[in-house]
Amino acid sequence: MSNRIAHAGLAAKRRTAQEAAALIQDGMAVGMSGFTGSGYPKAVPLALAERMTAAHAAGESFRVKVWTGASTGPELDGALAQADGVEFRLPYNSDPIARERINGGHMQYFDMHLSQVAPMAWQGFLGDLDIAVIEVTGIAADGELIPSASVGNNKTWIDRAKGVILEVNRWQNPALEGMHDIYYGTALPPHRVPIPLVRADQRIGQPTFRCDPGKVIAVVETDAPDRNAPFKAPDGKARAIAGHLLEFLGHEVRKGRLPASLLPLQSGVGNIANAVLTGLIDAPFGDMVAFTEVIQDGMLDLLDAGKLRMASATSLSLSPEAAARLNADMGRYRDRIILRPQEISNHPELVRRLGCIAMNGLIEADIYGNVNSTHLMGSRIQNGIGGSGDFARNAFLSIFMTPSTAKGGAISAIVPHCSHVDHIDQDVQVIVTEQGLADLRGLAPRQRAELIMEKCAHPDFRPMLKDYFRRAMAGSYGLQSPMLPGEALAWHQRFIDTGTMRG
Ligand code: COA
Repeated sequence: MSNRIAHAGLAAKRRTAQEAAALIQDGMAVGMSGFTGSGYPKAVPLALAERMTAAHAAGESFRVKVWTGASTGPELDGALAQADGVEFRLPYNSDPIARERINGGHMQYFDMHLSQVAPMAWQGFLGDLDIAVIEVTGIAADGELIPSASVGNNKTWIDRAKGVILEVNRWQNPALEGMHDIYYGTALPPHRVPIPLVRADQRIGQPTFRCDPGKVIAVVETDAPDRNAPFKAPDGKARAIAGHLLEFLGHEVRKGRLPASLLPLQSGVGNIANAVLTGLIDAPFGDMVAFTEVIQDGMLDLLDAGKLRMASATSLSLSPEAAARLNADMGRYRDRIILRPQEISNHPELVRRLGCIAMNGLIEADIYGNVNSTHLMGSRIQNGIGGSGDFARNAFLSIFMTPSTAKGGAISAIVPHCSHVDHIDQDVQVIVTEQGLADLRGLAPRQRAELIMEKCAHPDFRPMLKDYFRRAMAGSYGLQSPMLPGEALAWHQRFIDTGTMRG
């Protein structure tokens, strides 16, 4: 792709980032590309943030609604939040400045199941979309768009927006062309039909986005890298968690409940998920596939080691080192990686049909196996539910993992009662900490409680949990899921008051 803008009409719409940002007005809803730090626009949001800062200094209001695929990067979420330019955000955020704005009450945040964003936009529940700002790798001669390092909700934003601004990023490898599979067969009830995907490695769409050139209001050329954050080397706890999990998967294979190639893997975000993937390199499974949301370093390592045959996702989320490795050999990886819209990568119908093994992080779990993935002490958002709910409810195996304590041991990740629930106990089959693994399948609440306390809780907190459970058994209103309502969240209150959950 020597010429990144091969369509003459669109080449004539080249503008500076400042000129393009000037097309965005106060109060607009703007759909941006970007998923887990890749494929997000980098120049227009920065120019927009400058305009917002200037407007605020002049006493004028200038705030917009920002819709994306998932998390983006400092040039987008960070810069706009710093300029106090976002009044409403969906569907996921992990930027620290935006997080402070949300928790400070300055930004409304609609934290959503990622598979539901595109259908909800089509149903009209989210309101009108004024402008889409989409990073692409290039523009073909026929005007179709070659996607960037993530797909996310770009198809939907391009289709729904009144006007489209394109950022053509030269930094993105032109050999990305052909890696994507954009499916145009989704519809709303009563016209919805089955999605014709029965294997993770199947392509059901086309490699490019369709876009009416008449809708494009500006084309901006950029040359800037994705966020590409480094991963921490797995510490002892992450390695222990990975060890318990891999032993469990081996046990399931020996029992005949999983094939030796396992089932399509879904791996959540963060260092522990990455440690599990790293552990799979030496595990006795082969010919694996992934049907997941993001491709992290560990997935690339598995592809390199020949353990993973292929990976389907919506985004590449790599460290700088892994991004360089991918870029150096993109042609080879392109045959083994498929990037899809997030409504397909996370589709409940497909997760259920393929029988995924879902592995996600958690913030806290309670003794009955309810899981909180999003809120600290019940009220402070950390990131969001992301795709964890899409996968957890529909997976063949739904696994959640965490260190048993946080904040230097002041917080127990296993608590009497979750301060916020994202995944109800019915959607949580296995919990793993560095202490051990609780297989909760087929167990009733009191049986689950005994196992979680014994296998997953940190020894420092285990006696406190057992004491609570014993007293709940004696004094609660019913014995299905014994609870002392006046005490169930006392650990959280103690942390807020004293800085520790310890009694
Ligand atoms: N109570 C209070 N704070 C807690 C806590 C708890 N029980 N557990 C963790 N924390 C704090 C940590 O101390 C850390 O705070 P810091 O940033 O001030 O140091 C922060 O929460 C993040 O914890 P960390 O252990 O670094 O998280 P992680 O990288 O392992 O991610 C989740 C864990 C749950 C936040 C992350 O997996 C997530 O966002 N999940 C939801 C989305 C998802 O699952 N997406 C994947 C689907 S495909």
